[in-house]
Amino acid sequence: MSRSPHLALIMDGNGRWARQRGLPRTAGHREGAKAVREVVESAVRLGVGTLTLYAFSCDNWQRPRTEVRALMALLRRFLSEETPTCLRHGVRVQVIGHRHRLSPAVRKAIEACEEATGSGRAMTLRLAIDYSSRAQLAKAARSVVHGFPEELERALRLTNHPLDSAPPVDLLVRTSGEKRLSDFLLWECAYAELHFVDTLWPDFGEADLEEALRELGRRRRRFGRVEDAPASRDEPARVG
Ligand code: IPE
Ligand code: IPE
Ligand code: MG
Repeated sequence: MSRSPHLALIMDGNGRWARQRGLPRTAGHREGAKAVREVVESAVRLGVGTLTLYAFSCDNWQRPRTEVRALMALLRRFLSEETPTCLRHGVRVQVIGHRHRLSPAVRKAIEACEEATGSGRAMTLRLAIDYSSRAQLAKAARSVVHGFPEELERALRLTNHPLDSAPPVDLLVRTSGEKRLSDFLLWECAYAELHFVDTLWPDFGEADLEEALRELGRRRRRFGRVEDAPASRDEPARVG
């Protein structure tokens, strides 16, 4: 692959990790936050160009209030504490998803982190917070009248983030053994390679990330074409 890959991660299994240890779910989320720190640093080291992490879905508001509050506190802490590390490693942070339902404190932490890290060029870290791919597609579609699909593509980027320039996802990883997308990056994953692992998110680390990237290297990506055949430009396929 000529460009550095875009890796998307559905970080799942914090609750099960905690339950296995007789701990409250929030303890699993705290441990999960540690795994996020490790994985972000490893991703920079391993040459990932864009890393998109699913941190909180629109549907996650339906969880118990105490859990939602704990998750929001962790996100806020992560954003403020990791800003210096991101700056040091040249990581540009962009938060995708709705913002209006987040507390002013979380919004402020997002804006401060995005502004401080905006010139980072080593890797773009996209954090999906209060994110729903279907909601985003609907919003983008409403803003587009003509020019499908290029206009929709542009509208989708804008509804993600005003500065979004991420390439399509190359590899989508989901931890915890679940094999579904849960409303994450439906458009961007059109040709993504899918990699499902049983590891629970708090146990996921650099070795797992390396294995995922090796797996991407082993996949034969054809994008609808025939392998090793040059794309035919002047002979469009006849339909019918
Ligand atoms: C992922 O872990 C974290 C979030 C969705 C915020 P879960 O909390 O979904 O963990 P399980 O699936 O209950 O084990
Ligand atoms: C998806 O995980 C959302 C995040 C990882 C943030 P969920 O645990 O919420 O997804 P479902 O409910 O198992 O589909
Ligand atoms: Mg889950």
